Amino acid sequence: MTVKISVRPNGPLLVEGDVEVCDATGARLDTGGKPKIALCRCGSSSSKPFCDGTHNKVGFQAP
Ligand code: FES
Repeated sequence: MTVKISVRPNGPLLVEGDVEVCDATGARLDTGGKPKIALCRCGSSSSKPFCDGTHNKVGFQAP
């Protein structure tokens, strides 16, 4: 299955497809079985590595 990763303007990376997300120890993180997940790109999320919408509050501007 193809995995699609899309860059959102001034926002997260949207990942669509069957993927596993693991932490620094290799432990699998719960993605809730969602077909699409958003990974934080701004560094301000309180639920890293996932986006929690904080990029809007902090006015993240992607280069
Ligand atoms: S990109 Fe959304 S909280 Fe960081």
